[in-house]
Amino acid sequence: MKSTIQLKEMKKNNEKITMVTAYDFPSAKIVEEAEMDMILVGDSLGMVVLGYSSTVEVTMEDMIHHAKAVTRGAPNTFVVVDMPFMSYHISMEQAMVNAQRLMQKTNAQALKLEGASPDVLQLVKKLTDAGVPVIGHLGLTPQSVHVLGGYRVQGKDKATALKLIDDAKKLEQNGAISIVLECVPDRLAKHITKSLSIPTIGIGAGKDCDGQVLVFHDLLQYGVSYTPSFVEKYAQTGDLIKEALKTYNNEVRTQQFPTESHTFLMEESLAKELQL
Ligand code: KIV
Ligand code: NA
Repeated sequence: MKSTIQLKEMKKNNEKITMVTAYDFPSAKIVEEAEMDMILVGDSLGMVVLGYSSTVEVTMEDMIHHAKAVTRGAPNTFVVVDMPFMSYHISMEQAMVNAQRLMQKTNAQALKLEGASPDVLQLVKKLTDAGVPVIGHLGLTPQSVHVLGGYRVQGKDKATALKLIDDAKKLEQNGAISIVLECVPDRLAKHITKSLSIPTIGIGAGKDCDGQVLVFHDLLQYGVSYTPSFVEKYAQTGDLIKEALKTYNNEVRTQQFPTESHTFLMEESLAKELQL
């Protein structure tokens, strides 16, 4: 398993960091077998595996339930868990208790928080002091979709670009071990990446981030109806699964399945004795 120190070393050595989301046991197992550096149990799970309309509906219970399955499936991979909507905003105390629950119940290696408000920065520091590695998340922060007014590129004007640069620095100063940059113009992501000693992990943030992250179901085209332009479709697994299911469906109906090889046969002598 990669350590926090190794991830920082990778940035120094210009070795790209690879990350993908996973939400259950079998997918986590496959991700580990594919030798990815990190797994994110993203709150995107609300949309891609639970069918919610945004990440706003995701609960602590959802995150714990799925993250536990992921750490069991990928025991040797660095696993990051998202703190869900409002689980770290009501009070510092509740945020700390929720972080404790996520770490202790899921066996994850780090937590991820969106934004860099004064409260979030203070929380990053407190968690770091308590021994919880924190990853930041800037740019498009989906938990604030209703404030941002939709899913779109961030940092396109001078003020928001400068704020992003400043927020990234503050996250590093408060102890963040890495920052996810989502939907940020490539030159801004490159500048932020160069200005930090902790690795940036990009999604829709160009090639110059220290690492890349994609959503499992997006890159595999597994049960998704919309795919953002920054995703590369590495496989059409949804089509593959659908074809296999159609074949199975058809073979049962036409009595081509099961065959003798799928069947338990009774010993001839016993069958005779029982007159079967
Ligand atoms: O929840 C998620 O999948 C994420 C990534 C898109 C970074 O936060
Ligand atoms: Na997320």
